Amino acid sequence: MSVTRLSFQGLRNLASVDMCPSSRINLISGVNGSGKTSLLEGIHILGMGRSFRTRQLRHAIQADAPYMTLYGRLSGDPEITLGVRRMRAQRELELRLRGEKGVRLAELVETMPLQLINPDAFRLLEGSPSGRREFLDWGVFHVKHFFLDAWKRTRRAVKHRNALLRRGRIVPSEIAVWEQELATWGEQMDTLRQAWFSEFLPVFNETLKELIPLPDLSLQYARGWDKQRSLIDVLHDSRQTDQQMGFTQQGPQRADLRIKLNKQPAVEVLSRGQQKLVVSALKLAQGRLLESTTQRHCIYLIDDLPAELDSTHRGKFCNLLEKMQCQAFITSVEPSALHGIWDSSTEVGMFHVKQSGHGVSHLLPDG
Ligand SMILES: Nc1ncnc2c1ncn2[C@@H]1O[C@H](COP(=O)(O)OP(=O)(O)O)[C@@H](O)[C@H]1O
Ligand SMILES: [Mg+2]
Repeated sequence: MSVTRLSFQGLRNLASVDMCPSSRINLISGVNGSGKTSLLEGIHILGMGRSFRTRQLRHAIQADAPYMTLYGRLSGDPEITLGVRRMRAQRELELRLRGEKGVRLAELVETMPLQLINPDAFRLLEGSPSGRREFLDWGVFHVKHFFLDAWKRTRRAVKHRNALLRRGRIVPSEIAVWEQELATWGEQMDTLRQAWFSEFLPVFNETLKELIPLPDLSLQYARGWDKQRSLIDVLHDSRQTDQQMGFTQQGPQRADLRIKLNKQPAVEVLSRGQQKLVVSALKLAQGRLLESTTQRHCIYLIDDLPAELDSTHRGKFCNLLEKMQCQAFITSVEPSALHGIWDSSTEVGMFHVKQSGHGVSHLLPDG
């Protein structure tokens, strides 16, 4: 599966975009501020219903435009069309899938698996567990679709239990209802996450070895509560301390991926460049596992690759990418930084974002 057409209106500084990316590898060049990141942002909103730049989507709507419309077509038999529209005056997104209105966001996300590699993604190791949990759950969701149900029910149970903890006097029969619900779905989430992780780990180790050998690096899944005990027991026994803290301290909502080097947190010992390569290996391994388990391919959005990796590792990264069956959109200020990297059999599409005099940019095929 790959994107065969993109048509965007009212997105940031970009004049109407109509792009037919016929290649797997698509390079987008342009000077600073021309709109390269905005183009990737548009693809991200189309596939995820949210931006990686802002929490408030209205900021992505072109100044003075009443709305933004993003449309995409994916290869397949039959082809799949997706659409997202956001009016400036309304909070809700209008979503369309295969021409149908009123679809759920999860359906869009499921249709178009995306992986983003940008400077923020490189903070995956040092940032809070929520980013790593999102990374983990992306994998579980795309491989095991019923995970979403367990995830939603768990989130709801945590919310209700926290509300009861904060209300003051605990009524055991009331809180027990939500603890049972949380335990049931939380244990399920853990089972699914563990199953996914045991498949992911060897793929990650292999990918890391090809990118940068770090034999002492270890990746572990931490489920969010004591390994030896059932979640129901943990919840029951921690009511008092949870009440003092005002929230549920243990459970699947606290799961994490722990990345260590010789038992120390990797972020404390690895250089910045090494951290970027570990994150790159994590992201590439996600796509590789998706390909091998579901025969589906994710779409990589890679922002300013030359600025993030040195030329040797850039070469290795691109080799790994082209060995996969995935499609990639890669931006760069200088297109020459990504010349000569690709195998002669790899089709590379080139695009250029050109600024016009009025602060508006046009996306043009290049070369
Ligand atoms: N809502 C908006 N409407 C119009 N222009 C915008 C809007 N938001 C940002 N811009 C402008 O769009 C340009 C896009 O920048 P960006 O996509 O980050 O470029 P690049 O990644 O090529 O450096 C910037 O010059 C910015 O000022
Ligand atoms: Mg940019």
